Amino acid sequence: MIKLGVNIDHIATLRQARKEGVPDILKAALAAKEGGADGLTVHLRQDRRHIQDRDVFNLKENSGLPLNLEMAAVDEIINIALEVKPSSVCMVPEKREELTTEGGLDAAGNKEKIRTAVNKFRKEDIEVSLFIDPDIKQIKAAAEVGADTVEIHTGAYANALPDKKEEHIKIIARSAEAALKEGLKVNAGHGLDYSNVSAVKETDVFSEFNIGYSIICRGVFTGLEVAVRDMKILLG
Ligand code: PXP
Repeated sequence: MIKLGVNIDHIATLRQARKEGVPDILKAALAAKEGGADGLTVHLRQDRRHIQDRDVFNLKENSGLPLNLEMAAVDEIINIALEVKPSSVCMVPEKREELTTEGGLDAAGNKEKIRTAVNKFRKEDIEVSLFIDPDIKQIKAAAEVGADTVEIHTGAYANALPDKKEEHIKIIARSAEAALKEGLKVNAGHGLDYSNVSAVKETDVFSEFNIGYSIICRGVFTGLEVAVRDMKILLG
């Protein structure tokens, strides 16, 4: 069964709109856990637009769920991650002006920098994932720099017009299979929702999906626990 990592960044987005204590990020994490989440994902961005340092420590200590920390491969955040010791880190590209993570990481173009970061985490037994586009060159680079896992960027599939979706699924499946052959664990994420997740699931190659926005949006109306449970049903 595919595991579900629930990205709760947007609970913090709402809290930061007023910079008050609500909605409580730990309460959200516990609701996700009640709904069947297998893990939590948060992105500690350099601009701290949603998740704050204290949230990461709080979730690690108190949620009772494995924590996947998304992050740019920069010293400031690497040092915080080494202190938090999450179950896994997922390195992503980060631009200040973007609304959300846009493309995948250019692992092939930054092998030395990424290998150095990967080694720091592996020494601490922290699983390292690289968020990459479904591109064989990037998959080979991920294996070469010693990553444990790749998270395949599903954004292009999610945004594709209906008649192009099948083509994207084929590309995603082919690259995921190549990653498995390289000995990598293969996850997927970005833009997955209740209507498009099943086709990715049916490729039968993924260990885990990391899903945020669609679950939080549904949760506004149903409560987060129900929204997570509804997604788990689709993955079951
Ligand atoms: N995986 C990664 C690496 C991401 O950057 C994001 C967005 O923060 C997600 C998964 C979740 O994407 P979405 O919020 O579109 O479900």
